[in-house]
Amino acid sequence: MLIARFLLPLLLSLAVLTAIATPLAENLLANWFRRDVSARAEVIFRAVEARLDEHLQGGARAAELKKLFNKIARDDHVAAAGICTDGKPGPRSDLWPPSLPCPPSGVARYRSKAEDGRPLLFSIFPVGAGQIKSGFILVHDLSFFRHRAMMTWLYVIVFMVLVSLTVVLVTVLTIRLTMRDWLRRLRGLFNDPDLRVIGKNLPRELLPVIRDVRQLMRETRLVAGPESLRINWAPQSLKKLLENELPGQEIIVVSNREPYIHHREEDGRVVLQRPASGLVTALEPITRACGGVWIAHGHGNADADAVDEHDNVSVPPENPEYTLHRVWLTPEEEEGYYYGLANDGLWPLCHIAFVRPNFRESDWEAYKTVNRKFANAVVKMARTANPLVLVQDYHFALLPRYVRDKLPDATIITFWHIPWPNAEVFSICPWREEILKGLLGSSVVGFHTRFHCNNFLDSTDRFLESNISRDQSSIKLGGDETLVRSYPISIAWPPEGTVGLPDAGTCREAVIRRHNLPKDALIGVGVERFDYTKGIVDRLQAVRDVLRQRPDLRGRLVFIQAAAPTRSRLPAYQQIQDECAALVEDVNREFGRGDYKPILLLVRHHMPSEVFEMFRAADFCIVSSLHDGMNLVAKEFVAAREDEKGVLILSTFAGASKELMDALLVNPYDIAGTAEAMQRALAMPEPEQQERMRLMREMVRDNNIYYWAARILLDAGLLRKRGRIERLLTEQRLEAAEDADEALQP
Ligand code: G6P
Repeated sequence: MLIARFLLPLLLSLAVLTAIATPLAENLLANWFRRDVSARAEVIFRAVEARLDEHLQGGARAAELKKLFNKIARDDHVAAAGICTDGKPGPRSDLWPPSLPCPPSGVARYRSKAEDGRPLLFSIFPVGAGQIKSGFILVHDLSFFRHRAMMTWLYVIVFMVLVSLTVVLVTVLTIRLTMRDWLRRLRGLFNDPDLRVIGKNLPRELLPVIRDVRQLMRETRLVAGPESLRINWAPQSLKKLLENELPGQEIIVVSNREPYIHHREEDGRVVLQRPASGLVTALEPITRACGGVWIAHGHGNADADAVDEHDNVSVPPENPEYTLHRVWLTPEEEEGYYYGLANDGLWPLCHIAFVRPNFRESDWEAYKTVNRKFANAVVKMARTANPLVLVQDYHFALLPRYVRDKLPDATIITFWHIPWPNAEVFSICPWREEILKGLLGSSVVGFHTRFHCNNFLDSTDRFLESNISRDQSSIKLGGDETLVRSYPISIAWPPEGTVGLPDAGTCREAVIRRHNLPKDALIGVGVERFDYTKGIVDRLQAVRDVLRQRPDLRGRLVFIQAAAPTRSRLPAYQQIQDECAALVEDVNREFGRGDYKPILLLVRHHMPSEVFEMFRAADFCIVSSLHDGMNLVAKEFVAAREDEKGVLILSTFAGASKELMDALLVNPYDIAGTAEAMQRALAMPEPEQQERMRLMREMVRDNNIYYWAARILLDAGLLRKRGRIERLLTEQRLEAAEDADEALQP
């Protein structure tokens, strides 16, 4: 590539130079040759001058002269030689062209052409003295000029090409070696964990690049966490981290959904349900390790029967390790707080999926009431004055401030699991200041991506009088400082859903059998809650496009969409569910035949084992969220593919796309682009699938859910240490002031 880049322009300039230089050089060469020929003619003339004089004076016979001239004409480039006297030919060589007249008198050189077109040069030397004007004529055949000129050019061009090639090779080699050296040094520079060493011995031109990359790395480090944390994170290592960094620490988790639900079946039996949630996977080992408390909304129909008089139940029931404290909500509270402000207001506000957020005063009131209720539960359950409170999600924007007011020494880490919009969009929320102030009661506010952290900093900057440090990514409001950090959430590795699951081939056969698919089916899958933010309509339209463009795929391509019903009470959800159902019907009518249906829409909850079976059976999985904080389906698909096959098509608007860069990234609003990605996925050669899948699997394995939790705990540990030091310093200062006061007493 580098050679082509050099060689083409070089050859082109060579051709241009040759075109310009050729006429000039030809002229120059011709003059040289002519001068050369004239000089040789002079030499010949001098050699025969005496004999010619002799002839003219009547001494030499014409026959002898003719012999002499024939001898001269044997020379390579001499065509003829002879004498002209008074314009008439005298003795001359045999090959004197018959039509050749004597040259006009009085000229020394004369050019003409032979009958066959050869160029001839006449050199005329006057001989003898007296009345009769005679001249020795030497005729040179100049056709050798052209031959010599061509040969010369050939040599020159070959020489120039060889020189150019050498120059190109030497240059490319030098550049390569220099680049390798620079890259080595750059790598060394970037590998410096503290990013302190300035680029020694690197050209000044690279310094701006180094600065930019360092800045990027700093930001990435804020995302990815320090290198020293890079181990294979598992529940045991989390426990160890807790013992080392936060010994004896009291931990309270607050989330809307509970880790255990007591559900009464129709036959009256009570079963314990475990929601398949990443959050529970990550936070449960921590809560277990320190015998902590989990506070959540008790919404199971048998939850109330399972708790004690303090609304507590010890879990897991078979081996109790921590306390689940249930908070009860009235139907009105649930309506206003959960369906209203959280899911009809904040959810569309933060996702910007072009569904209008609805802000109702009554919902806001319910949201405040419920946040206060949960905050009171935290205060009630706290055994110490400074617990570590891990607040989850957009259901509790106000709770951190309420808890801070009651427990000023608590370390409160709030993780916002959904995107944070830009300040302009956020500004439409009527209670934007209250929400920001509420969240800034936290010690740390966490998001999945740096981008959302920046949006949060911008929103605070715009709507609150506060002190913001972009460098530290922190906000000071009043006396309290809140750090704004990104912790990209992940999944357990290996995920529970893969335990005991058969290999990809068997899963594929099972799925084909279960849904009665063609044996050679090409299977695409999508798995999510039935939510308008997931871009389900858009991806189904892309499937339709593929089938329209590729008749050869009709009868083979099957797209399985698993959609779990969710928040169906809200009109926006009903609308998207109806729209999808109608679209699936249309597509199946257009392309279905016999038993073959191109799209299967499975609207129900699927068990993790069913989901992972689908992942293993798929040729591709598509996650086309219109906007998503992270999206764990993308990570689960990757985790499922131990065979390193299958292609992930991923929306650039999902946080996961910042980590899973080896997926086929698409803009879900671009239906044609998504359809193209589907076709590319179906045609992707296995080695490419493996290469991409391997990289993504490494990424998810190294950055698993325990790593996410570890980073949060580590930041909590650092904050606590910092708090202790600050308290110590304040105490010392106070003691010193008291001593000084005492000393001043009379
Ligand atoms: C998604 C979001 C989470 C949120 C959850 C609530 O999974 O990513 O941030 O907590 O929905 O779902 P729910 O069914 O409880 O409304």
